[in-house]
This record gives sequence, structure tokens and C-alpha cells, in this order.
Amino acid sequence: MNSISSNKSSKLSGDIVVPGDKSISHRALIIGSLVPGKIKITNLLESDDVIATANALELLGLKINKKNDFWEIFGSGIGNLSGSNYRLDMGNSGTGSRLLMGLVAGSDVEATFFGDDSLSKRPMKRIIIPLLKTGAIFDDPNNDNLPLKIRGSKIPLPIEYISPVASAQIKSSILLAGLSSTGNTIVVEPALSRDHTENMLKYLGAKISTIQLPDSSWKITLEGLPCLKALDIEIPSDPSSAAFPIVASIITPNSHVKVSNVCINDLRVGLYTSLIEMGANITFSNKRKINGETVADISASYSKLNGITIPKKRVASMIDEYPILSIAAVKAKGSTIMEGVEELRYKETDRISAICDGLNSIGVETVDTKDKVVIKGKGPDCILNGNKTIISKNDHRIAMSFLCLGLITENPITVLDTDTINSSFPSFFEVMNGIGAKLNRIK
Ligand code: S3P
Repeated sequence: MNSISSNKSSKLSGDIVVPGDKSISHRALIIGSLVPGKIKITNLLESDDVIATANALELLGLKINKKNDFWEIFGSGIGNLSGSNYRLDMGNSGTGSRLLMGLVAGSDVEATFFGDDSLSKRPMKRIIIPLLKTGAIFDDPNNDNLPLKIRGSKIPLPIEYISPVASAQIKSSILLAGLSSTGNTIVVEPALSRDHTENMLKYLGAKISTIQLPDSSWKITLEGLPCLKALDIEIPSDPSSAAFPIVASIITPNSHVKVSNVCINDLRVGLYTSLIEMGANITFSNKRKINGETVADISASYSKLNGITIPKKRVASMIDEYPILSIAAVKAKGSTIMEGVEELRYKETDRISAICDGLNSIGVETVDTKDKVVIKGKGPDCILNGNKTIISKNDHRIAMSFLCLGLITENPITVLDTDTINSSFPSFFEVMNGIGAKLNRIK
């Protein structure tokens, strides 16, 4: 078991690049497998989660090559996968498993999905229920957890599904199944979740529309059997990974960093909106579009923060960033209140408990109710002792967040079992130490 200790640091600085976006990387591989012909993918995130998706697609018969500085995938067209008895190891990845189950639901394929301890505890009913409606068959449809065996249908039924949660994984799973059906697939979600699936499908030529309904929910409609084009995909850097050096710089005195080429899709930037409301110095420059996604360079420097209330309507746009926002909240003057965050309980670990337990252990008070968290900030000039050990619980974002906190405590914070960081940000250690963070590996 590998661990990392994080030691008091100052003056973080540098112009850096973080790896490709995890969500878009999964989609580039999965949707790339459905185009008729070869495409080139640049800046694919080569992390454990994404590699698990690539391996699963290869097992399903797709040809995927890693070249020096790009990947190529030979798409087999929509609805052309077949075979049974596949065993797909999805590792730690909820996105990979839920999206690939959608792909299998719309294919003449039978496959068993399994994963690590953390993934095996995550809820799957949320996609089983809609995928059953498309005609997919599950060995045990009452089972909420992996391992799960699913048999898809070559021509799935086009469905209309009203999702009780705003979840890009649920939405994308249904849309991927709907690609091979002969009618319109409709997903309604209570708030708009990240729309990378829609953007990529649109970029490749699919007809897909999004409208807001009078009750303020969102309706996404996809026409089945689109003629996809085999276009190359360039993946922007991941705003969820950029969050770590950026928050580290905001809380560490005399720091300034710039992270280039980051995806700033409106549905991913809730963390940055919240930090700016808290008083953080953050600027965006060099805004541009790459294959349907907006990117920019983000600069941030040390800032004195105030506590704020983060409304429920912002949850979807910063769902993965609450752990690192909680670290910023420690240095804020006053309380930071996070509303409507129950979904955090169903991530790689129960992130609400992990955040509160970790912060309590270093002397920060929190209030944790079913779907609301309050972090009582210690103020910009607080002195925190540190000298604590945090267990990652197989959750990469919990591990990286507490390592960022260790940069401002008097004594080190050690995070145990840090290999999980490879799920999303394999170069975290090097990138952070490259800007002056004092992280040490412990074997
Ligand atoms: C993801 C969607 C999010 C996010 C996850 C990646 C995706 O989950 O937490 O890390 O790529 O679709 P939900 O929107 O399903 O909650």
C-alpha cells in the first residue's frame, strides 16, 4: 500500500498542464467505437479508469492502438458489436461501467460487469431501471450492485425516461443505448448534468436537442441510428483535476499558478464560480472552442476567502469538486454551506462522511445532515496543527483534497492508500511538486 505525506509549503507557482478530461476521454473511446472508421484521439487521459474502459472495448472486439502522442480507434459503426460471455473489469470507474452498460444494452452482446470494492458498492439500479425499458435483460434486475450480467438487444426500444436525479452517467447510458434504436430516445433530468455526450454526438453528426420544460427540468432528445462521421477528437484538460493545483494556490500564501487548456464547459465550472464568490482571485483567458467544448487558461493566486452558501442548483456543475471546495472552506472566514449534496454519498465513497470525518480529525467543525453540509471556516490566518493520517477509502478525490490541505498545516498530513489517485490524475504528485508543493512518497 503506497501513501503520500503532504508538508507545509509556500509560494506555489508555475504554468502547468493537467491531464485530459476523464469524462470526455471515456466518451471519446466509447462513442469513437461507434463511428464508421478510424479516428485519432489526442490528449486522452491515460488513467486507470479510462484504461479500464479501453480494455473493456478491446475485449468487446474493438481495435484500439496507443501511438506515441495519440490514440487511434477503429470504430465498427452503430449496433455492430456481438458475442457473449464477456467479463468486463471496470476497476474503480462508475462512469466507465454505467456508460458501457448503455452501449451493451443497445448491442447484440451479453457481458458481466465487475469492479473493485468501491465500485461494487455503488448503486446501479439507477441505470438498470431505464435500460430494462429498452429491452435489455439483467440476470438479477433487483441487484443494485456489480457484478451484473446484462444482455442487450441489437434493436433496443426507444424510451422516454424521467430521471429522478441529475446524473450525466444515467443520461449518457440511456442515450448510448438509444443510438441503435429506430426512434427518438428522450431523457428528462431535474437539472442539467454535464453534456459531453450530447456535445460529442453532435460534433460527430448526430441529431440531439436539449430544451428546458416549463417545470424547469431538461429534456434531451436523440434521433436513433444517426450517420456518425469519423472525425478526430482532441480532449481538453480536466477542470476537476485543475481544481487541485488551483485551490492549493488559493490557500497557500504567495502563490500563483496558471493551468492551460482547461475545459470550461458551463456545466463543469461550479467550483470556479463558488471560489470567485468566496473572494478568490481567478481569471480565465484565451477562451476558445475545441470539438464542441469551450476551453480556457485558468490563473489563480493566493486569496483571502469568505464562507458562502452553495445552492442546490449548482450541485451538478461541481459534483466532483465538493471535497476540494471543502478544503478551501477551511481557510474561509465564516461558514460554507453546501445544499442539496446527497448524491455525494454515492460516489467512490460516501464523500460527505469522508470530508466531515477528515476535517473533524484536524479540528475543523462540520455539520452533516442528510443532504446538507456546513463547514465552519477557521479564517484566512488560522494555524492548523495537522499531524494526522487520512485513509483514501479508494477515493481519488478525497486523497488529493487532503494532500492539498497538508500544504497549509504546521505538521504533515499523510494520506494512506494513494494509488487510487491514478483513477483520474496519475501525474498529480509530479504536477503538484512541480509548482513547489512538498509531497513525499512513503512506501
Ligand atoms: C461523470 C458524471 C458525474 C461525475 C463523474 C463523471 C460522467 O456523475 O461524478 O465523476 O463522466 O458522466 P453523475 O453526473 O452521474 O452524478
